[in-house]
Amino acid sequence: MKAAVLHEVGGQLSLEDVAEPDVSEGLSLVDMRAAGINFADVLIRLGHYPQPPPLPTVLGNEVAGDLDGRRVLAFVRTTGGGYAERVAVDDEWVFDLPPDASYAEGASFLTTFLTAWLPFIRQAHIRPGSHVLVTAAAGGVGTAAIQLARHLGARVTAAAGSEEKHALARELGAEATISYDAIAELDDVDVALDPVGGPVFAACLKSLRPLGVAIGIGFAGGAWEPVDPARLVGRNVGVQGFYLGRLMGFEPRLVQEQARELIALWRRGSIRPVVGAEYPLADAQAAHELIASRRSTGKVVLVP
Ligand SMILES: NC(=O)c1ccc[n+]([C@@H]2O[C@H](COP(=O)([O-])OP(=O)(O)OC[C@H]3O[C@@H](n4cnc5c(N)ncnc54)[C@H](OP(=O)(O)O)[C@@H]3O)[C@@H](O)[C@H]2O)c1
Repeated sequence: MKAAVLHEVGGQLSLEDVAEPDVSEGLSLVDMRAAGINFADVLIRLGHYPQPPPLPTVLGNEVAGDLDGRRVLAFVRTTGGGYAERVAVDDEWVFDLPPDASYAEGASFLTTFLTAWLPFIRQAHIRPGSHVLVTAAAGGVGTAAIQLARHLGARVTAAAGSEEKHALARELGAEATISYDAIAELDDVDVALDPVGGPVFAACLKSLRPLGVAIGIGFAGGAWEPVDPARLVGRNVGVQGFYLGRLMGFEPRLVQEQARELIALWRRGSIRPVVGAEYPLADAQAAHELIASRRSTGKVVLVP
């Protein structure tokens, strides 16, 4: 079968013939119809990820496809290897794709929506009328976060890097769209969800009203600056961090239950993943370069 293989840090993803994956107990073989690319995959390829897999490797930790006649979406936790024609998935992380959903949407759903939803419901207290700030708002996690915050009754301010991205955020329900520089002018944010890190996370923290919380989920724009607890106490604000991969290991039942809850919301039409681009598996390198260039919106997926 064909797979996009990474041989060395900074190298190109190349389409090659590889062995079929082993399907030991607890795993099932999915015919991949779409594979999601996460920003972390790009960081791994570039050598910027803290816990990289040994090389050579086939990246990709979420897919949608066919499993014994079922249309499914799934995490590829145990083995990795999503960027391939056939993928061994963990039985306990397989879910049914909603009937009217495409495979590309299926591969765009789990990581993005869980990474916004779990912090929103477990680490923040969003109420109707809460003011939620979402950064990198037109990205994979960002587009999910806008929809989920709106679903919870919040009004959303979206920060993103271009006019095209602002337009997408507004289409998804953001009330206001701003540049990253304008975050410094806000002072009434209840919950900030930030995938960007660096100075943007520091600005999110400053934008909070008393009892607000800033949730760091990524460092696409650079390493986090240190946070002084004295400032948090003095301003009555909080900082939270969220890392889905770890939580799946520590609290699998919670994450699975919430994945089913989110799929139910999707089936009811309350939320829908945004697929920004589809690339053939052979062009996985170009797909990575699109994401790294900051020109992607929504989720970028590979198709066989
Ligand atoms: N903690 C978790 O469990 C978890 C799970 C999934 C993803 N994440 C993290 O969340 C972030 C978003 O992931 P995603 O897959 O949804 O990606 P994405 O938002 O689709 O892409 C990243 C976006 O970050 C923004 N960005 C800001 N500074 C950047 C820079 N220097 N280089 C590149 N992009 C920059 C860009 O949007 P603008 O042009 O609008 O700035 C870019 O489009 C990533 O950092 C990812 O690692 C964390």
